[in-house]
Amino acid sequence: MGAIKVLDNYNKQVKLDLQSISNDESPENICPQDLFPKFILEIKDKDVLIFIKYYMAGVEITESLLDSFINFVRKDNAGIVSQIFNCKLLKTYSLGEGYEVMMLKRIISKLQSYDIHIDDLFSTPKCMNELENQDVLKFFNYYLSEEDIDESLIDSFINFIILHKDSALISEIFHSQIMKVYPLNKCYQIRILKRIVSKLEASEVYIDAIYELFSKALFDFHETAYSYRCFLDLKLEDIILVRKMDSQFIFGTTGMTTWRSSAVLSEYIYRFCDFDNKNILELGAGCGLTGMVTAKYHKVKSLCLTDGNHHVLEQLKENVRLNFSEADNINIELLDWDNFEENQLQVKPDIILGADIIYDDLLFPGICKTLAKLLSNSDVYAIFAYNIRSKPKPEIEKLDAELAQYNLFTKKLCVAWLPTDKKGIDFEPNDGTRIRILDEIFCSNYSFERKNMEEKTIF
Ligand SMILES: C[S@@+](CC[C@H](N)C(=O)[O-])C[C@H]1O[C@@H](n2cnc3c(N)ncnc32)[C@H](O)[C@@H]1O
Repeated sequence: MGAIKVLDNYNKQVKLDLQSISNDESPENICPQDLFPKFILEIKDKDVLIFIKYYMAGVEITESLLDSFINFVRKDNAGIVSQIFNCKLLKTYSLGEGYEVMMLKRIISKLQSYDIHIDDLFSTPKCMNELENQDVLKFFNYYLSEEDIDESLIDSFINFIILHKDSALISEIFHSQIMKVYPLNKCYQIRILKRIVSKLEASEVYIDAIYELFSKALFDFHETAYSYRCFLDLKLEDIILVRKMDSQFIFGTTGMTTWRSSAVLSEYIYRFCDFDNKNILELGAGCGLTGMVTAKYHKVKSLCLTDGNHHVLEQLKENVRLNFSEADNINIELLDWDNFEENQLQVKPDIILGADIIYDDLLFPGICKTLAKLLSNSDVYAIFAYNIRSKPKPEIEKLDAELAQYNLFTKKLCVAWLPTDKKGIDFEPNDGTRIRILDEIFCSNYSFERKNMEEKTIF
């Protein structure tokens, strides 16, 4: 192989010659040539070498070359992808972000079609595992999942960075691979970074890495059709990525974005429910967060996520594909509450879930008729998370009046509320009946913090 060129940080091309890679890594001898990953020398497949050469040079790559690389990865060489992403050369002389993200997306989508997930792209930035400060961890947890962040957590984060002056950590988290490929909503990023910058300025503290981030968010600003929320559990063991659109109402539905009730119901299911060996059905699943949390943390017998809108179903499929393999066997079905027949389901559910589907009384006749059919067996029950948008709460009274026609009624299962320290959600238990409602969902912050098993007392 001949010389290859990479762009350095100032967009100058740096020539690399594979034949003359040096093994001397003493600091005074380090030059782009020496940062070139040595593992490449062991690769015998010419197309794979050309692929790597083109990738590192930021050159357009044909489908057939990409296929050769993917085939190579499939032959037990998955580690190579991480080696390329994490090689010192690319860390020092980064590729243009647009090129890198476009290539990563092509690589990921091909690998996903073979059910291969690359851990580096699906894991929290490594440095997060070393963070001992729980508030800072929570700050990142909320930031990645695009949640509201209260003042006290912002202050904890600021104190932490002032104390540590650790700009490497800031950049490792904010510029992690996962955030490049699955970017957060830009307006959200700007909103949070603006608060951080103005607080730092008020204390006359100036941290370059934060300014760099803020200006990048401001000047790189362009609206994208989709953005992602990245939900982590506090042990940083699992990630659930949710692709969503940022309009609350688009394509005639509210289901293209995530609603707070889905996060609250997710946390509730994560912390208190035992759905092992149960058949679960979700109504109006939207982007699918609740259903995906159910699948991730319970050994369910079957899971069927449904919605009445075709665009929502497409997005739901994409989200399930992002987070699960085909072997996980998650069904996604059209279920319109106004046209539901029991025999359209392959499996009879034991538990029905619904997050933020009680909001419009015009929908209640359909929801209640559907519930009456699904709850015909007395062992089956439903759990809904309901977002109180105004008080008093006329919706529940109207829903109850509609349900009474089928001899069904709701009962408040518990109240989700935001504790005074404004960290996380707390649930206040209540006796449940067959249609259990999580009420008072007006809180803003939450996390997937799993409490002791003793807490699993509600069911
Ligand atoms: C406010 S969104 C909630 C989405 C999701 N559960 C969440 O909490 O993020 C309401 C969902 O109900 C769905 N929906 C509305 N009317 C429906 C109907 N008649 N049949 C089935 N689904 C319906 C919408 O498409 C949308 O996905």
